[in-house]
Amino acid sequence: MVLKIASRSDISPFIVMDVMRSANAREASGKDVLHLEVGQPSTPAPKSVIEAAKLGLDEELLGYTDALGIPLLRQRLSDHYKAYYNLRIPSERIIVTTGSSGAFILGFLAVFEPGDKVGITSPGYPAYKNILRTVGVEVIEVSVNEDTAFQPSVEILSNLDVSLDGLIIASPSNPTGSMLSVASLSEICSWCSAQKVRLISDEIYHGITFQRKASSALHYSEDAVIVNSFSKYFSMTGWRLGWMVVPDNLIRTIECLAQNLFISPPTLSQLAAVSAFDCFDELDSNVERYARNRSILLTELPKAGFEKLAPSDGAFYLYADVSSLTSNSETFCARILEEAGVAITPGIDFDTQYGKNFVRFSYAGETAVMVEASSRLRELFFNP
Ligand SMILES: Cc1ncc(COP(=O)(O)O)c(C=O)c1O
Repeated sequence: MVLKIASRSDISPFIVMDVMRSANAREASGKDVLHLEVGQPSTPAPKSVIEAAKLGLDEELLGYTDALGIPLLRQRLSDHYKAYYNLRIPSERIIVTTGSSGAFILGFLAVFEPGDKVGITSPGYPAYKNILRTVGVEVIEVSVNEDTAFQPSVEILSNLDVSLDGLIIASPSNPTGSMLSVASLSEICSWCSAQKVRLISDEIYHGITFQRKASSALHYSEDAVIVNSFSKYFSMTGWRLGWMVVPDNLIRTIECLAQNLFISPPTLSQLAAVSAFDCFDELDSNVERYARNRSILLTELPKAGFEKLAPSDGAFYLYADVSSLTSNSETFCARILEEAGVAITPGIDFDTQYGKNFVRFSYAGETAVMVEASSRLRELFFNP
């Protein structure tokens, strides 16, 4: 008899990881690949972080830490909120996690009951809905498009035919890179408070913006749960470190969950991350490279036929409407990988309904890669 597999684990794959696997297989067979699929910086952690990690390896025991994170890192994060956002957030409200992915698990378990209805935007980061489903939440996909810069608005939320228990927003967003205006963010926060909708604000791309700084939902909401990470701006993806900022009355609940589910976040990464806050020059020079990459793609992609691009205010993504080139973004991306050696992600990862008409480019890589990818795409589509 075959033993059962729990139905709650029957979730979609994270397709970008599958695309990365195909790209890696192609590389392993000796062919080259230009990686524009995965949303991770192509730079290592800042130098001082690496130095601190070496010191940690030599001098520290590296046992468990407090489940909520080492006090020094929580304090540096609190100082960061003052310096970056001009917000006074006591370090007790800041919880260090195993990536923002760990923060979602803790946050969702702490604030949502099975059967609750939680809104996510579509297109949006796929793991939100997949993690929510594993904890028994009913996912309400809120369709957004170019009319609202691929972001939700109070008007859209008020017109939903269900009443939400929670809402997840991300500004800048993945996959589009678009941002909520300050007015819209504050309206959504007020609407959530008035409607008793628990807001989760994923602020992982803060620090990587091109026109204006991103504003935190903490400015406008007392009961929002904020999620952030060392994976993107801080260029520490594989160190698996993130954090959340929670209202006072959630601290103990999340501490108990964290103690039982994770014991503590990675110790070496925590010790090293303390130094990340001394590295803003190095980190900002990464953002300058993203800005250069973005402007190359904004100029070059239309020449290859990718003309309809979502507003790319931040993060390191361009989301292109490719409905004039294909009606199946998955086979389209496979063809581009096969014929041009360029790895990009099909929109179906982010939007099950309309994603077949979209692809996502990640420009977190080297500038030379963006130049070469643009030229190969032009060649592919104009010399078929
Ligand atoms: C919007 C968004 N949130 C969260 C994550 C997860 O990041 P991590 O677990 O590395 O902090 C990602 C990763 O790509 C993302 O794009």
